[in-house]
Amino acid sequence: MDQRRSCFTIVTLTPQIVTFGCLAAFAPLAFGDEPAPEMRFEDLEAHRVVSEHGVVAADHRLASEAGAEALAAGGNAADAGVVALLALGVANPFGSGLGGGGFCLYRGADQDETAVIDFRETAPSAAHRDMYVVDGEVDHSLARHGGLAVATPGEAAGLWSLHGRFGRLEWEEVVEPALQMADQGIPVGATLATHLQSMADTFEEWPQIASVFQNDDGELLAEGDLMVRDDLVRALTLLRDEGVRPFYVGEIADAIAEAAQAHGGILSADDLAAYAVERREPIVATFGDYEIHSMPPPSSGGIALVQALHVVAHLDLNGERGEADYVHAVVEALKHAFADRARWLGDTDFVDVPVDMLISEEYAAELAARVDGSSVLQLEDYGTVAPDPEGGGTAHLSVADAEGNLLACTSTINTRFGSMVVVPEYGIILNNEMADFNVEPGEPNIFGLIGNEQNAVAANKRPLSSMSPTLAFHNDQPLMTLGASGGPTIISGVYFTLLDILAFGLDPLDAVASPRIHHQWVPNTLFVEVEDLSFSDELEKRGHDVEVRRAYNAVQIILRDGSQWIGVADPRKGGIPAAPQSPNESP
Ligand code: GLY
Repeated sequence: MDQRRSCFTIVTLTPQIVTFGCLAAFAPLAFGDEPAPEMRFEDLEAHRVVSEHGVVAADHRLASEAGAEALAAGGNAADAGVVALLALGVANPFGSGLGGGGFCLYRGADQDETAVIDFRETAPSAAHRDMYVVDGEVDHSLARHGGLAVATPGEAAGLWSLHGRFGRLEWEEVVEPALQMADQGIPVGATLATHLQSMADTFEEWPQIASVFQNDDGELLAEGDLMVRDDLVRALTLLRDEGVRPFYVGEIADAIAEAAQAHGGILSADDLAAYAVERREPIVATFGDYEIHSMPPPSSGGIALVQALHVVAHLDLNGERGEADYVHAVVEALKHAFADRARWLGDTDFVDVPVDMLISEEYAAELAARVDGSSVLQLEDYGTVAPDPEGGGTAHLSVADAEGNLLACTSTINTRFGSMVVVPEYGIILNNEMADFNVEPGEPNIFGLIGNEQNAVAANKRPLSSMSPTLAFHNDQPLMTLGASGGPTIISGVYFTLLDILAFGLDPLDAVASPRIHHQWVPNTLFVEVEDLSFSDELEKRGHDVEVRRAYNAVQIILRDGSQWIGVADPRKGGIPAAPQSPNESP
């Protein structure tokens, strides 16, 4: 059956949300005179694959294909996930890699619980609230680039944990594909080439990382150039042969600490030795007939996503998807969620977060009652109370295998090329995850996100994240794995994609390709991806400050449709999904 522009038969809406239900699913997109998604993106169909043997959806074709090969070799979703995440670190080194960290949700088809693996980077033990204060003023640039921006990386430990708990292939087998890519070389992709060019000025201040991506003539690599990574080969060889230990105790750990300290950092070998992956409980909520599982703190993603969906479920949206009434309502719900993000959220190992209250139906009803269909509210009227006073990094990977095991992982070194500090011998680009803290509580962080003491810097604390790896189930059966990269727009990307699919029955490719909108409460601006949207004037009348911004999230999603999996990788970042043609045949 051709699923394009159809209403999925699996969609069963409760009376609560039927007002924006299936009828709208058949309505054409109502985003003004904008070209249809197919017109905006070249060869949109290349970003979609359908297979009954499982799918890997990563934001680089080679990573998806390497993961699909692991499925074809008898691996499961966890094996394919480790393969693809390591491959992403080679192919898209601006966004994720061994110098970063992330979160994964894994649900085995024979399990009744979703495992949450938290391998978020952690503030060094010498970190403290005022570590960025210089001459009485907070110097935000220190949390962005250089050694002080670096938090203890968790990527290697997280992948080791994912594989150790759920993988089926040998460890050497899951590391080998990335090692081969780094050793043989791969062509520089369009997205990496764009990021390299846009960082040319910044790289002048950071010659060491620039040299990693320069050719013999000292020019930055361009699209199609062969990228060989002898430095990374050394790290991946140790990872393959000795496992994760050298990253936390011994030679690689020492080299990471030395590199951070050489650039003014405080990360120590002891911090690496003390690093621990955390097991967490997922945020679980229902939306219509669906059960949503998403990421708990130290990410804000799951709570904000569920909170916004719950508010929406209480609203009479009174109109079709893409019209002013609808956009106003779903954006108002999102603003409440982001206001509470700023007020309440932080690392629950350090601060109290009222998780149950924030995701409760009662609280959602209270917030929904405040939504005024004709006007925005004053900023301080969103969420519980007013809080105290660029993207490019990150990668999301979704995997579903033939057995129905689901994986959603989002991994990051934070903004493009992280801290700019690279571990010379091993080519590991160190994260700048310290910038995800509110280094000056009450002031916007690197993403313009407001936060308070809940997300202030403290020793061994994990900075608040927006990463939202998410799984959905229908009648207890695996239905969907999705997530995104893109800083705070991760939350709106996952939110709108879920709404489009679960409430409107859009095909995942149409949902992913639809023009994005984003609001994060502060700044008080409604960002839209494309110009001349039909509803912009109407929204401005209601008090929204509408602004066009091109940079958005990149969503990877896999949806079950009967015995098939439909996988989509976002064209915004050039992602291409892959599937084994049969369980024993490579893609
Ligand atoms: N570094 C982006 C995030 O965790 O939200």
